[in-house]
Amino acid sequence: MKTATRSMPHRGRFTTGLILGLSLVAGAAQADEASVKAGREAAQACAACHGDNGNSNNPAFPSIAGQPAGYLATQLRAYRDGTRENAIMSGQAANLSDEQIRDIAAYYAAQERKVLNPADEGSTLGSQLYHHGRDGVVACAACHGAEGRGNQPAGFPAMRGLSPDYTAQSLKDYRRQARKGGKAEIMYPVVADLSDEEIEALAAHIATFE
Ligand code: HEC
Ligand code: HEC
Repeated sequence: MKTATRSMPHRGRFTTGLILGLSLVAGAAQADEASVKAGREAAQACAACHGDNGNSNNPAFPSIAGQPAGYLATQLRAYRDGTRENAIMSGQAANLSDEQIRDIAAYYAAQERKVLNPADEGSTLGSQLYHHGRDGVVACAACHGAEGRGNQPAGFPAMRGLSPDYTAQSLKDYRRQARKGGKAEIMYPVVADLSDEEIEALAAHIATFE
């Protein structure tokens, strides 16, 4: 009996703490849901190029579904302020507010990424470089994952579903440090020593991810 009365207030505090904690989590989930909903509205014009829910079937337009929200938001801000140069996307991002960018990023981050057209033919050299790197080149898998799924918490983008042309162009843009903004500087030393042939090989391997 004595033990029971002594442990009561303790358990009470624990329960109150638990309920408070759960309602905070629920509050955050509600805010996320509202953001995703607002993002879906704001993203209607994007589907013409990036496909339904951000899964693109056109090699000219990268899939953006399932990318880390932080990555998407920094890329949109970089297009808006011109640090990542692209005529089409700077026009698309020009009039987005910070809040719209946050919502759009939350919406696309929450979409399932699907690879609509994985390539049948890869590249042995590309596979070797991607998974093991070489002297002077860090293995891509360390950050982008063995299956190209990226790393949401760390903000490393997924590679699955990127077309060879888009991937090769991005790697060349990082190599000449023309792609700025976001965490682009992490990519500079990784690609600095890659030849064109190695870049094409990596892009071909990445296109085989399912
Ligand atoms: C007319 C076609 C078109 C429309 C519409 C369009 N985009 Fe894009 N988007 C592109 C192209 C092309 C690229 C690749 C640009 C580059 O190489 O930097 C791109 C790239 C992006 C990227 C970078 C992807 C990555 O993996 O780094 C994001 C994010 C993005 N678009 C979001 C959006 C959003 C959000 C909208 C709607 C507000 C939108 N786009 C509308 C064509 C379009
Ligand atoms: C240390 C971690 C790290 C390593 C290793 C790394 N990456 Fe990255 N990668 C990143 C980050 C962070 C970004 C986002 C950069 C930005 O904000 O522009 C990125 C972006 C990219 C993009 C652009 C994606 C898009 O959707 O536009 C490509 C393509 C890419 N990396 C390919 C590679 C390849 C190929 C390798 C191996 C040769 C590699 N990465 C190694 C961290 C890494």
